[in-house]
Amino acid sequence: MNKITLPVLFTIILAVAGIRSAWAENPESNYRLYCAQCHGLKGNGAGINKADMSATPRDHTNRAEMPKLKDKDLYLAIEQGGVAVGKSALMPAWNGVLTDTEIKEIVAYLRKLCNCSEE
Ligand code: HEC
Repeated sequence: MNKITLPVLFTIILAVAGIRSAWAENPESNYRLYCAQCHGLKGNGAGINKADMSATPRDHTNRAEMPKLKDKDLYLAIEQGGVAVGKSALMPAWNGVLTDTEIKEIVAYLRKLCNCSEE
């Protein structure tokens, strides 16, 4: 490898690593990628799939309802799907797709969306 290609290659590797970590560590981008088609880009439950679903996706901005849900139950619903918390199987399980840390960050992001904490 000559003297020019090595720094170029190194720069590309750094750039790709930077983009990957910026993407993976951002709960908002994960939410937009994985959750928005049902829960809506704003988290208000008005995603594109809503009209065709027999269960209405949770409105994560609802300040009356969201405080009633415990953080551990939000985590469980995301990790193992709606069935794990007695809700619809239309809410998918995300274990294997999202890491433990990413799910915890999304729970914190949901708390930002509703601007609330558990009761
Ligand atoms: C295919 C559609 C769909 C996708 C994608 C989806 N959800 Fe859901 N989600 C639902 C539906 C439908 C419900 C409501 C289930 C019910 O009330 O029976 C729900 C409910 C929930 C609940 C509330 C559970 C409760 O106790 O009320 C949480 C939290 C949640 N979703 C988070 C997420 C997150 C975070 C993502 C992305 C990682 C996501 N959902 C992706 C459809 C979806």
